[in-house]
Amino acid sequence: EILVSPDPAATARRAADVVLAGLARRPGRDPVLGLATGSSPLGLYQELGRAVAEGRADFSTAHGIALDEYVGLPPGHPEGYRQVLLREVCDVIGLSPDRLAVPDGSATDEASLVAAATAYEERIAALGGVDVQILGIGANGHLGFNEPGSALASRTRVKRLSERTRRDNARFFTGLDDVPTHCLTQGLGTILGARRLVLVATGDGKADAVAAALEGPLTASVPASVLQWHPDTVVCLDEAAAAGL
Ligand code: GLP
Repeated sequence: EILVSPDPAATARRAADVVLAGLARRPGRDPVLGLATGSSPLGLYQELGRAVAEGRADFSTAHGIALDEYVGLPPGHPEGYRQVLLREVCDVIGLSPDRLAVPDGSATDEASLVAAATAYEERIAALGGVDVQILGIGANGHLGFNEPGSALASRTRVKRLSERTRRDNARFFTGLDDVPTHCLTQGLGTILGARRLVLVATGDGKADAVAAALEGPLTASVPASVLQWHPDTVVCLDEAAAAGL
């Protein structure tokens, strides 16, 4: 389902409704919300916070599951995704930091990172899977940090970041040299395991990636094209991001 709204604010409001409706389908169970970083879902998180303030939502018993994390940043680094999600989501929607799971990218050796990836998959499974996964899309069509070429059935694992993504994310660091080269990310197969996927994209910089993902072939060259494969995907766009459709 593709929902096009006039502007980013309206897109965020609509996406929040879609998220809340998805979570409401499993009453009596602690909701499991999949969280994306990046600028795209920020308005959606604000809208979810507004719903909490107005008594229309409650995340005090919810679990938050991050999509991905950088490898090699010092613990507590402000741009590490645990810190980002604490600031941009937990504080905003009232999600307990104890219930926020983020892949552990602090290890420096490969065996420990592989173990962290396995542990993350086990954690998601122990929670009974993700109810609603919020997603942004990279300008190169990446989902989480599944860069072009990612296997369509992949699970959580260590990945090298593409130069395009490192350049795109350099604005959060003091310079390109400080952007990590690797990450831990849920795989495309992991993401497809969520019961509902909600992608948010706004602005003309995402128009080509959105068009390729939604109307192009299902291909590892455009990781977000796996959305076509999921039976309950809702794509929330503003008119600029929908311009290529
Ligand atoms: C990062 C994140 C992705 C996110 C992407 C787009 O690379 N790992 O999950 O979708 O950025 O970010 P933005 O929404 O700021 O364009």
